[in-house]
Amino acid sequence: MRLLVTGGCGFIGSAVVRRVLRTTDWTVVVLDKLTYAAEPRALEETAADPRYRLVVGDVADAELLARLFAEYRPDAVLHLAAESHVDRSIDGPEAFLSTNVVGTFRLLEAALAHWRTLSEPDRSRFRFHHVSTDEVFGALDPEDAPFRETSPYDPRSPYAASKAAADHFVRAWFHTYGLPVLISNASNNYGPWQFPEKLIPLAIAKALEGQPIPLYGRGEQVRDWLFVDDHAAALLAILGRGRVGRTYLVGARAERTNLELVRTLCAILDELVPNSPHRPHARLIRFVADRPGHDRRYAIDPTRLEAELGWRPSRSLEEGLRATVAWYLAHRDWLAEMRARYDGRRLGLVRPAAAGAEPAAAGTGRTEPEGTER
Ligand code: NAD
Ligand code: TYD
Repeated sequence: MRLLVTGGCGFIGSAVVRRVLRTTDWTVVVLDKLTYAAEPRALEETAADPRYRLVVGDVADAELLARLFAEYRPDAVLHLAAESHVDRSIDGPEAFLSTNVVGTFRLLEAALAHWRTLSEPDRSRFRFHHVSTDEVFGALDPEDAPFRETSPYDPRSPYAASKAAADHFVRAWFHTYGLPVLISNASNNYGPWQFPEKLIPLAIAKALEGQPIPLYGRGEQVRDWLFVDDHAAALLAILGRGRVGRTYLVGARAERTNLELVRTLCAILDELVPNSPHRPHARLIRFVADRPGHDRRYAIDPTRLEAELGWRPSRSLEEGLRATVAWYLAHRDWLAEMRARYDGRRLGLVRPAAAGAEPAAAGTGRTEPEGTER
């Protein structure tokens, strides 16, 4: 089996590649543009493996894709390359269109051209697996049932709109041209090697630095958290045994408000860093200006994935968070380096504090200063 993984140097892609090389005899070629979010060191353990190869390039580069498919002749494509951060999509949507929409379209075109050259048995074995997000379904109210595969599309952020568009293109290539596709929509991932602009690594980094931990609005939004290795396992199950043309929702039934989640992280840090001058870390939590169009709640019903493919998460959220905090503590230098790479102020990702912002219940009584960096 020859697998082409786009975005394989990213947070989820690298977890997938590590798992594939550890658990199968497949060969893997990664196509990655190495944007700010890429971390080739997450693949250090695989770099010496002769079954692994990295091609640096843009998924929207049709010429490069044609060469790559002709030379490598993959049996399957796992498409993860994307711009993935909602806040960046608010501040600069164009890159999301170029990579997530045009990039997916170009990859579909290249995959289809390649697929048409295959023999009949190879054609029916070929898979194009598009990795997507639950954010395409919009926002749930607290009392709503979780998203299912049949939930209507209702994207709200530029990121979600770009992923929704990509999902539609992938489905169109199945219905119109017969390309054997799979789509999975997963909930919020967490775990090692996540770039510290996303909530969990950002909160850990801020807590270790003794800096305010910013929670948008009142921290009441709900996210459904999935450990990245469990997502990787689900992707391989879907790729291997999923029904062609089908959508699978991936989630671990672990809904928490952002405030609950960050308080849990702070409690774990209090325990694992007993000599920290910043204990109790929850004192650092601050409410800041809300994200525009901030989706209230995401939640996944993973019944299809569980029933059809027997997938189960390997750990509870609390176990996963503990392992994640321990990993970031063991990689403090990396975290500091990535934080230096991410300068929210320079990138323009800075908004004024929320009108009437006040500290979280566990706060210190100080209010959030103007222009809080996200
Ligand atoms: P990430 O931002 O950590 O990594 C994205 C990777 O794609 C990076 O290595 C980057 O260099 C690469 N990339 C970006 N633009 C590219 C381009 N034009 N050409 C080639 N490579 C490019 O993202 P992630 O969190 O690992 O997410 C991976 C995929 O999973 C994305 O498609 C995302 O929409 C989806 N997803 C993410 C989550 C989550 O919680 N992180 C949840 C559900 C779905
Ligand atoms: P994020 O990690 O950006 O993922 P997504 O927007 O794709 O869900 O954010 C997770 C939640 O945390 C989301 O509700 C926004 C919130 N959040 C904060 O409150 N503060 C922050 O600094 C960040 C980055 C996110």
